[in-house]
Amino acid sequence: MAPRFQAPRGTRDLLPGDLERWQWAEAQARGVLERYGYREIRTPLFEDFELFARTSGETSDVVQKEMYRFKDLGERELALRPEFTAGVMRAYLEHGLGGRARVHRLWSAGPVFRYGRPQKGRYRQFSQLNCELVGSAAPGADIEMIALFVDVYEAWGFHGLTVVLNSLGQPATRRAYGERLREWLAPVHDRLSADSQQRLVANPLRVLDTKDEGDLALLRERGAMPRLLDQLDADDRAHWDAVLAGLEAVGIAYEIDHGLVRGLDYYTRTAFEVHDRSLGAQSALGGGGRYDGLVEELGGSPTPGVGFAIGFDRAMLVLEQRGAALPPAPPGVFVAAMEGTREEAMALTRALRRVLPADLDLEARSFGAQMKAAGKSGARLLVIVGEEEWPRGEVVVKDLAAGVQETIPRVGLAEALRARLAQAPPPRPGGATEAEKR
Ligand code: HAM
Repeated sequence: MAPRFQAPRGTRDLLPGDLERWQWAEAQARGVLERYGYREIRTPLFEDFELFARTSGETSDVVQKEMYRFKDLGERELALRPEFTAGVMRAYLEHGLGGRARVHRLWSAGPVFRYGRPQKGRYRQFSQLNCELVGSAAPGADIEMIALFVDVYEAWGFHGLTVVLNSLGQPATRRAYGERLREWLAPVHDRLSADSQQRLVANPLRVLDTKDEGDLALLRERGAMPRLLDQLDADDRAHWDAVLAGLEAVGIAYEIDHGLVRGLDYYTRTAFEVHDRSLGAQSALGGGGRYDGLVEELGGSPTPGVGFAIGFDRAMLVLEQRGAALPPAPPGVFVAAMEGTREEAMALTRALRRVLPADLDLEARSFGAQMKAAGKSGARLLVIVGEEEWPRGEVVVKDLAAGVQETIPRVGLAEALRARLAQAPPPRPGGATEAEKR
């Protein structure tokens, strides 16, 4: 019989066994972020709806179709965060971070919510790793951001990633470019999907983001598309050239994608993404870009920024598909009690657990049953709290991998166990196996 309750559509449970990979990935990412000098910021899971509507763009899919919007009991219009950037910049302004230092390097990680149609790699609750570099308009900031982006993936074992890039210029450039797109698409206008026709009115660049097969065929039919890059003003062009030169200097492979427009409206100048085709339609592993007008949009003084978000779920899916091995659990000990030493064994286990992974049999079962449980537990060492040894201040320690056993003092036991766990398992009695000899 199906259980009465199931996780809401578009959400998932991450069970032990899946979660180790996530935790490992988070730890790797933290290491990279620390080395780049980024510091964590945590903002609320929900914010004023208006904050997202203003920053993501009234006509974006995120605002129009995907927002978890609700009124609380005090009639406040709120929304679950569909992304981090708006909340982080709200906090930046609210706490006057700009007055404390010129440049802030900030990261966050956690769940975000978008009401999309669930499919492989697309969920209604998903997780992002988000980074922002606030306070620098220099191309060096874009280069650092893209290098950090790639280095996080590399720390997870992705290699040979190609970053796709475009420049979205300034809002005025985009408006002019939007006009050109409308003209370019005029001959096929009536054959475009209703969605793309609407986008052509409200936000023409978004047509380039279409996933509709018919629309994609029409875009191909029209041939050479006008390019935003050809319309950049001199400053934006110089910025773009400097970013490309910098990426080459630091050894990051990139491709220019003239159709890359991003799904959120706050971007200016550099926009970038990285894709993995094995994910099918939902192939974007992560993306970001520069958002020099965002802080002003929120009522602050002009403050440039650049950032990215990596979709954890998709990255983990790809690693799983590739069969990337999970990091092994740290080896531990199993404490076995005799009839007369159960309480001592419990106390010893508690003391050992302060410094190393330790397990015991909760059921007060026979010694034989405890031996079986120890074997199943994956523990490397068995600590036997013997009725004779314990009063003498000793325990018996058996290396389950090597099959050797010794009696060692209780004083300093944790250290002695730690040292043994750190060693490679000694050869089993009887010598190496045939496979090991080869
Ligand atoms: P975004 O491109 O909307 O950017 O999202 C970043 C990543 O989140 C995507 O590339 C994808 O991997 C993942 N993602 C998005 N939607 C879903 C979903 N429904 N299910 C699973 N994964 C998903 C942003 O969110 C910007 N705030 C990034 C940024 C930071 N730009 C500047 N600073």
